[in-house]
Amino acid sequence: MGWVFLNGKMVREDEAAVTAFDHGFLYGDGLFETVAVHRARPLLLREHLERLLAGAAWLSYQHLPTQDQLAAAAGKVIAANSVTEGALRLLLTRGAGPGTWDPEGYGPPTIIITAASGTPYREEDYHRGWRAVISSFRQDEGSPLCHLKSLNFLHHVLARREARARGAEEALHLNLRGELAEGSISNVFVVRRGELVTPDVASGLLPGITRAVVLDLARKLGLSVQERPVQPQELQGAEEAFLTSSLMGLMPLVAVDDRPVGAGVPGPVTARLRAAYADLVLAGPA
Ligand SMILES: Cc1ncc(COP(=O)(O)O)c(C=O)c1O
Repeated sequence: MGWVFLNGKMVREDEAAVTAFDHGFLYGDGLFETVAVHRARPLLLREHLERLLAGAAWLSYQHLPTQDQLAAAAGKVIAANSVTEGALRLLLTRGAGPGTWDPEGYGPPTIIITAASGTPYREEDYHRGWRAVISSFRQDEGSPLCHLKSLNFLHHVLARREARARGAEEALHLNLRGELAEGSISNVFVVRRGELVTPDVASGLLPGITRAVVLDLARKLGLSVQERPVQPQELQGAEEAFLTSSLMGLMPLVAVDDRPVGAGVPGPVTARLRAAYADLVLAGPA
């Protein structure tokens, strides 16, 4: 039986219940973060906490915990669940209130932190690479909500179902202009003429923590990097492509809508960046 941090207390998993009048539960008024745990350390935790608390401030949540309080609680949850390799999840909602959609009268925020061992990604996924489909669900690049990792995750959930139904592992969202935005759980990169290209934030995407690290690494490795609008057709003309997320790291993307990307196998730039990412993020104190 696992342990959950719920509003300041460690409680048993089967007792970690929230009220039916929580605004997150009722209207998706909440945010979450998924953090990889390696050697019992939450990777890039400060960056995740910064994104979470910046999003909560933007949503005008009151009485927010500090980064240090959340980091201490995260450490407790990892230890209580004896997680060495796995995932940490932090969830923050506007809190409980009268049950109406109006956000007035809700709070303090509900805070839930869980941790689980294991990851859904296997080494053979990285060797073979993932296939994606273009989702029928478009991302509205004009909406500030696409920049938040919010509990309004339904169109990503449904995009994932589209991918599964078509035998692919990921679905890519286009924005309303028809440009590439992001995956349902990932950011997307392409390599074209040796240059690393990824949709800019104004294309309508979650500014991923892994995306930022990869951009930084690529520049340090001397690669030419561009953040700009990307047409979906550019995937076909690309030498390589890959997806990024905190749990997945860098995943080669080898086909989109049944058409191969480049040679249809994981490419050398992806491999180089994957190795650099592993050196930087995964190799920490034992
Ligand atoms: C919609 C979406 N885009 C991008 C990402 C990648 O973000 P990060 O690298 O911060 O995990 C995620 C992660 O779950 C996501 O859900």
